[in-house]
Amino acid sequence: MVAPSRSDLAPAAGSTGGRLAAVQEMARLQRLLFEVEREFIRTATTLIYRVGEPELKYLLCQHVWESAGHARFLRERGRELTGFSGGEDVRDALRQVFDEAVLPADGGMALAGFYRVLKPALLRAYRHYLDVTDHLADWPSKKLVEEFILDEERHAREITPYLLSGDATDAWAAHLSAIVASRGGFLGESAPAPLPAGFAWESAARCYTHPLTCNRGRYPTCSSVFSFDPAETPIVRPWLVDPATDARVIRIMVYVWLMMEMDAVDYLATVFYDTPAAPFDLHHDLARHLWDESRHSQFGFRQLPKLGVDLMTVEHSLDLYHILIHMPPHERYAMMTMEFEAGSFPTKATVMDRIRELNDFEADTLLAFDRNDEQNHVRYGHRWLPEIMALAGEHRPVDEFVRATQEKFKVLAELHGGRTPHALPPERRLTGEKIVRLVGAR
Ligand SMILES: [Fe+2]
Ligand SMILES: [Fe+2]
Repeated sequence: MVAPSRSDLAPAAGSTGGRLAAVQEMARLQRLLFEVEREFIRTATTLIYRVGEPELKYLLCQHVWESAGHARFLRERGRELTGFSGGEDVRDALRQVFDEAVLPADGGMALAGFYRVLKPALLRAYRHYLDVTDHLADWPSKKLVEEFILDEERHAREITPYLLSGDATDAWAAHLSAIVASRGGFLGESAPAPLPAGFAWESAARCYTHPLTCNRGRYPTCSSVFSFDPAETPIVRPWLVDPATDARVIRIMVYVWLMMEMDAVDYLATVFYDTPAAPFDLHHDLARHLWDESRHSQFGFRQLPKLGVDLMTVEHSLDLYHILIHMPPHERYAMMTMEFEAGSFPTKATVMDRIRELNDFEADTLLAFDRNDEQNHVRYGHRWLPEIMALAGEHRPVDEFVRATQEKFKVLAELHGGRTPHALPPERRLTGEKIVRLVGAR
C-alpha cells in the first residue's frame, strides 16, 4: 500500500458534496415528497366541507391524517440526510399545482382531480423513489416508502366508490394531468411534456374562497340540534343534566351530539388552506384534531341506527359553520378550542356518569376516548393558538384576544346564525319527545 501524498489529503473544492452526492440526491427527492404531502394536507382539506356524504368526509379526514404521518416521517428521515434542508416551506411551483386543484366549484369534480390525478402522481413518485434508491444503503427510507405505497394503494381503493366521471370531470382531470406531465411528475421521474397550446391556468384568473355553507348531501339540515324545547330538537339542554332523565334518553342525545361534531370537521377543515405559512407541526396537529372529530362524529353515526334511530330523521346543524366562516382562521380556531371544547367538559362528565348506569361498555368506551381526545384538543389550542394568531398578525395577549373573539362571535351569530329552517316537519324529525317514545321511557 502506498502512503497518501499531501495532495491526496487536502480537501478538493466541493469534495464534501461529491462524496455525499448519492445521499443528497435521495434527500432532494424526499424533500419533494414531503412538500407534496404538505400541500395535499393544506388543499385536500377543502374537499371535506364541499362533499356531502358523511362516509366520504370521514374517509378524507383519515387520508389527510395518514398524509400528515407520511410527511412527518419523511421530515424525520430527511433530517438525517445531508441535503434535505432545514426549513419546511413548500416551493412555489408545487404550490401552484395544488392551488389549481382546489378551484372547481363542484366538490365532486375537485375530488376527482385530487384522486384521479394528484394522488396517482404521488403514488408513482413513491414507486420511483423505491426504484432508484439503494435498498441496503437507504434501508431506513426504503422501509418508510414501502409502507406509504401500501397506504396510497389503499387510499385509491377506498375512494373509488366516490369518484365521478363524465365530460366535465374528465376534462378537469385532463387539465390537471397536463400540469403534472409538464413537471415530469412530482419527482421529475419522466420527461417533462410541454403544456398544450392554449393552456390557461385557472388560478391565474381567480382565487379559491370557502363556500358560505357546508354540504351535507342528502341529509336534512337545521340551524341547531340544541334547544330547550323537546318538541323542536333532539337535544334538550336541561335534560342532559337532569337526574330525572332516563339514561337511555341521555345516551341517544349524546350520540346525536357526537354525530354533530361533523360541524367541527367542516369548519376545522377550512383552517389549513387559510394558513399556508404554518409550521408543519401545526398542520400535523390540526390534521390529528380533524381526524379525531371525524371519529367522534362516527361514534354517533354508527351507534344511532343500532338504537333504532333512522339517520334520515336526524337533522344536521349548520349554524357553527355559517357563523365561523365569517371569521378569520385564528378566530375560528380560538372559538373551537377555547370556547366550545374547553366549555364542554362539565356537561359531558355528568352525561358519562349517567351513561354508566346502563352497563353499556361500548358507550362508556366511546365517551372515554372522546373525553381523552378532547383534553388533547384543548392542549393543542394552548400550544397553537398563539402561533396561529402570530401568522395572522394578531399580537394582543391571548386572553384578551379570546374574550374579544367571543364577543365578536355573539354579534356574528345574530347575523348569520338561526338562518337554516328545519328541513323536516316536526312529525318527521327526531326530537326530544320522539327519543322518549323511542326508548319507551315514561
Ligand atoms: Fe370531538
Ligand atoms: Fe375536539
